[in-house]
Amino acid sequence: MQGSETQILGKKALILTRKSQNCSNFGLLNSTIVKEVITIKDKAFEMFIEQEVIEQGIKRIASQMNADLVGKNPIFVAVLNGAFMFAGELMKEVTIPSEITFVRLASYHGTTTTNNVKEVLGLNESIEGRSVVIVEDIVDSGNTMVSLLEQMKTHRPGDVRIATLLFKPAALRQKLHLDYVALEIPNDFIVGYGLDYDGYGRNLKDIYKMK
Ligand code: IMP
Ligand code: MG
Repeated sequence: MQGSETQILGKKALILTRKSQNCSNFGLLNSTIVKEVITIKDKAFEMFIEQEVIEQGIKRIASQMNADLVGKNPIFVAVLNGAFMFAGELMKEVTIPSEITFVRLASYHGTTTTNNVKEVLGLNESIEGRSVVIVEDIVDSGNTMVSLLEQMKTHRPGDVRIATLLFKPAALRQKLHLDYVALEIPNDFIVGYGLDYDGYGRNLKDIYKMK
């Protein structure tokens, strides 16, 4: 199976040539953009957001948290699998005393969001009376987050804040207040930095969007 595995993440470069312009004084002007394109299973994705830009966004929200949550002894609740990379980077920038724990609620298959969210698994710590920060990879329709919030409230936390790496405002279908958003993106399907297409692409250090 080695051969087929390497094909799943096959890389190639795409050369896009912008419209050639005929300019009377300067002759023919050609500008060329080279964008990295990768294939994951049956789909092509192009480079969208570089690691450096992602991590600037994470640093920015971490500083806000360091100011907002000082003295609150927060517990970060990161949602697996998608938020693992975001949570790791975020926690390196959080300087106040805090805990982190991980929960799981797989609800997404292929490239469309499903509405029925599974229960929250793995919340072993008591969050009663605590300041909770939910750490998510992406808020798309917001259905997952609304359902997660409802379930968190049954554990009677003191207060709950939401931190998301990515937010697609154009896709939002729920009334939701997001406290910390590292990056807002258009309504494209993306992979990388923890996010997957059918299980693959989570390990990419940059974010790619589906072509
Ligand atoms: P929502 O319930 O529609 O907000 O979707 C939230 C979940 O869908 C996220 O936690 C992701 O797991 C998944 N998801 C939404 N958009 C994308 C995407 O563009 N790429 C990969 N996963 C996504
Ligand atoms: Mg997720």
